Parts: sequence; C-alpha cells; structure tokens
Amino acid sequence: MKTPQTIAPVDGRLGVLLPGMGAVATTFIAGVELARRGHAKPFGSLTQQGTIRLGKRTENRSPRIHDFVPIAPMESIEFGAWDIFPDDAFTAATKAGVLSKDHLALVRDFLENIRPMTAVFDPGYVKKLDGPHVKRGASKMDLAEQLMADIDAFKRDRGVTRCVAVWCGSTETWRPTTEVHQTLEAFERGLRESSDDIAPSAIYAYACLRRGVPFANGAPNLAVDFPAMHELSRREGVAIAGKDFKTGQTLMKTILAPGFKARLLGLDGWYSTNILGNRDGEVLDDPDSFKSKEVSKLGVLEHILQPHLYPDLYGHYSHVVRINYYPPRGDNKEGWDNIDIFGWLGYPMQIKIDFLCRDSILAAPIVLDLALFLDLAQRAGMSGVQEWLSFYFKSPMTAPDLYPEHDLFIQLMKLKNTLRWMRGEDLITHLGLEYYD
Ligand SMILES: NC(=O)c1ccc[n+]([C@@H]2O[C@H](COP(=O)([O-])OP(=O)(O)OC[C@H]3O[C@@H](n4cnc5c(N)ncnc54)[C@H](O)[C@@H]3O)[C@@H](O)[C@H]2O)c1
Repeated sequence: MKTPQTIAPVDGRLGVLLPGMGAVATTFIAGVELARRGHAKPFGSLTQQGTIRLGKRTENRSPRIHDFVPIAPMESIEFGAWDIFPDDAFTAATKAGVLSKDHLALVRDFLENIRPMTAVFDPGYVKKLDGPHVKRGASKMDLAEQLMADIDAFKRDRGVTRCVAVWCGSTETWRPTTEVHQTLEAFERGLRESSDDIAPSAIYAYACLRRGVPFANGAPNLAVDFPAMHELSRREGVAIAGKDFKTGQTLMKTILAPGFKARLLGLDGWYSTNILGNRDGEVLDDPDSFKSKEVSKLGVLEHILQPHLYPDLYGHYSHVVRINYYPPRGDNKEGWDNIDIFGWLGYPMQIKIDFLCRDSILAAPIVLDLALFLDLAQRAGMSGVQEWLSFYFKSPMTAPDLYPEHDLFIQLMKLKNTLRWMRGEDLITHLGLEYYD
C-alpha cells in the first residue's frame, strides 16, 4: 500500500466545472456564494464543518477537517458549467425553485454572471428533454475536443490553476456496457466513429480526464464507471469517483439497514415510494432513465444485509422502489418507506418513514465536498477510483470484483481513516484495550 509522500499545497484558484446546471448545481453555487458572503452556513458539509479525532481519546485532539488536511478554501472556487439551456445561474435557480427569492436576491449579481457553455447532448439518452444550447460536431471525438477547448479557455479566462468536475446533468437512460467501453483504444475508436453506445456523460468524462481534471459522477448513468475510463484515469493520473449522490431515501436506508443488521433483526420487505416534481422527477418519469436509478437504488440493501451470510434473516425479503413524477411538489420530495421486520422467534414488526426532504438541499453539500476532496486527492497523487468517497454515493465505484461498501458508518470511517493515512496519523480501530491496561 502506497502512502502519499507529500500533498501539494493549495496554490491558486480552483475551477469547479459542472456538466448540467439545474436544481442541484445552482443550489450548490448559490449556497457557496451565500456562505462566502456570510448570509448562511454550509450545513451538511464535512469539509466545512466536520471534525476528525486524532490519536487516543485521552489526547483530546479533534481538529476541523479543513485544518487537518489542506483543503482549498471555498473563497478560491470559480464556477463553470455546461447546459443544454442557455439560462444563467440566477434564471436556472429561479426556475428550479429550491432557494427562496430572498436568498437568491442576495447573490443575484454573482449568479447572473455564470452562464453555461454549450452542451454535448443526445436526446436519445434523456428522452424527456431537448434544448437548443448544444454543440455540433463531425464526430463524438470532435465534441470531446470542443469540451477540452472549453476547459482550456475556462482555465485561462478565470485564471484558475486546477479544475475538478462534478456531473450534475440529468440521469441518462440505462444502457449495458458494450465492447466500446472495455478498453481505451476501443472507446477512442468509438468516439471517432460516433458509436451510439457512447453517452454524452462519457464524452464529458473523457474530455475532463484528458485534461487532467478529476471527475465525480452525481447521477447513476455510467459516465466514468467502465474499464476504458478507469484505464484513462490511471494513465493520466487523475482521480475519479461515483455514482449517484446519496441523498433522501437511500441515505435513510444506509443509516437504518446497518442498524437492523447489527441487532440481527430480520427483514421481510422494504417498500419505498417517492413523489417528486422537479425536472429530475420529470426525466425519471421515463422508464429508461428510471431504470438507471432503480439499478442504483436496489443494490444498497443486498450489500449491507449480506443475505448469503444471513439466509434466515435476509434471504427472502422483497425490495420495491418507486418514483412518481408529481409536479406540485417541485424539489420538495416526499418519500415513504414501509419496512416489515421481524425479531425474536420471528414476531413481525413494522416501521413507517415519511421523509419530507429537499432533494437539492441534501445534494448541494455533497457536490462541495466531492469537489474539494477530489482536488485534495489529486494533489496527494491519488489517481483512479477514490473508494474512500463512497460515503457520498448510492452506488459507489470500486475496483473490479470488489463489492461496494454501502453502510454509511463504515463509509465515514473509511473516509476519515483515509485522511489520517494521508497525514501519517494512526488509523482509528476503536479497539481501545489500552485504556484498561
Ligand atoms: N437532488 C438529489 O438529491 C439527487 C440525488 C442523486 C442524484 N441526483 C442526480 O443529479 C442530477 C441533477 O439533479 P437535478 O435535480 O439538478 O436535475 P435538473 O433536471 O434540475 O438538472 C439537470 C440539468 O442537466 C442538464 N443537462 C441534461 N443533459 C445534459 C448534458 N448532456 N449536458 C449538459 N447539461 C445537461 C439539464 O438541462 C438540467 O438543467 C440528476 O441526474 C439527478 O438524478 C440528484
């Protein structure tokens, strides 16, 4: 196992590039600027508010994470985005309807200056949307080169030294991987031949990695999660992470399911349904886009509960997930869970959850943390899949043949131990016998 010899210092400004400037992206951008101007606090962000225990419990060392590892300050962030609609960030945020008019008014001047670059888009991959603000090119490779030129121009014009990208675009339709995804050579040939199997998100990912820009994927579509991209990330020495921000119902699942397993409470069934009225909800109304989401949401329980190890407890449960597009609710999703569990001697019990959440409010701090942690990883020389960032994802990317870790508490321990490891501090095992010697 390697350890980073040094972490390059934060030097200059950091560009955060967002393919997709809708509800999540604008809530993130506006929130960072509101926090920078002192109008609101960045709750929910580990990089801004989290602490990390170091050494023994008797040492009382618990610095803020941003004082322990050299994280780029929020003040150094410059924003860039691509979208299929030309709306500036103020207009897009107003349409998304997540933040109040009062909050948006406080940063209107800033948001109006953020205008998206033209997007790489294929309506075959997002059937419910079509927009005019798109690039035209002779081939998919040509489109990738146009994106690389965008990145170069953004860096030059904004005077940023480093960039990271976080996919905040719509969920693309579910497609299996094909031959074109298996090697970098096949993928580049596919780009030149405009293979139908290459999604727009993968073209962005390719362009970013070619420019040394770490890439995180907030949606369940593949984007950067297939062998050719893993190969490219290692070749270029770039960090990658994904997939699908862990917010709302899946966040609840990965908090509760580890508790059931810890106490050996059995599961007969878990029925989850949502109503959601934002553009994301509209896109997910298309069965092919929902399929991407469903695949990402369903894997969670299987990996946490490990039915092969506990066949009596978890061998036969039924797990159903539904998302219903219901416009009146906008971004304020309501998620219901009915959980049928059983305990001692098999006696059944039920748990009902009604989570009135705000999707983009839960996602925005994840975008911030991913951007700052990916930049940190990059400066620490860590490339390829960053599994320690699983904490933020519904469907964490891992090395091939490794099952993902979904338990939120194990994910947090992994994240914090990675930070300790980066700084040469002892990893925390929670053994604690030494206190009783
Ligand atoms: N909000 C959450 O809690 C949450 C959780 C997990 C995942 N996600 C995912 O994050 C993504 C963003 O969510 P949102 O609520 O902001 O959705 P949104 O519909 O408000 O925004 C998505 C934006 O992406 C744009 N877009 C689509 N295809 C594009 C392309 N090829 N290039 C550039 N722009 C493109 C759309 O025009 C839109 O403005 C979605 O994929 C969603 O599934 C959100």
